[in-house]
Amino acid sequence: MKLIHAVIQPHKLTDVKQSLAKAGVTKMTVTSALGCGQQKGFSEGYRGVIHEVNLLKKTVIEIGVNEDFVEPTVKAIVDGARTGNIGDGKIFILDLKDAIRIRTGERGNEAIG
Ligand SMILES: Nc1ncnc2c1ncn2[C@@H]1O[C@H](COP(=O)(O)OP(=O)(O)OP(=O)(O)O)[C@@H](O)[C@H]1O
Ligand SMILES: [Mg+2]
Repeated sequence: MKLIHAVIQPHKLTDVKQSLAKAGVTKMTVTSALGCGQQKGFSEGYRGVIHEVNLLKKTVIEIGVNEDFVEPTVKAIVDGARTGNIGDGKIFILDLKDAIRIRTGERGNEAIG
């Protein structure tokens, strides 16, 4: 099992949700975040001296998936979020040790799927 942690542009959330739905992925947690990548939150045209990073509004999508859903989920996020511009986002894939569906007590693959 993996936890897919994707940071995307907030205005691409609708596209990513639609793309995930087409791939059969309907469970997710979405949060608002602040972040910056290799441009430190400034556009490439910025000419001043950067003393501290500039945190921009981002949207985080977290999805717990079984192994066979890792690549389809990643592809769906990329398809929905990609514009080709800087700041399109990043996806982190973490090993997920366990999951528990609280209502039933199911664990692992059954709790996720
Ligand atoms: N190494 C990192 N660790 C934690 N968060 C990161 C990391 N890289 C990117 N992020 C998060 O992802 C967001 C989007 O990153 P972004 O797409 O700007 O990546 P980038 O590496 O700067 O690539 P690009 O040059 O395409 O902009 C950042 O605002 C930040 O919230
Ligand atoms: Mg960037």
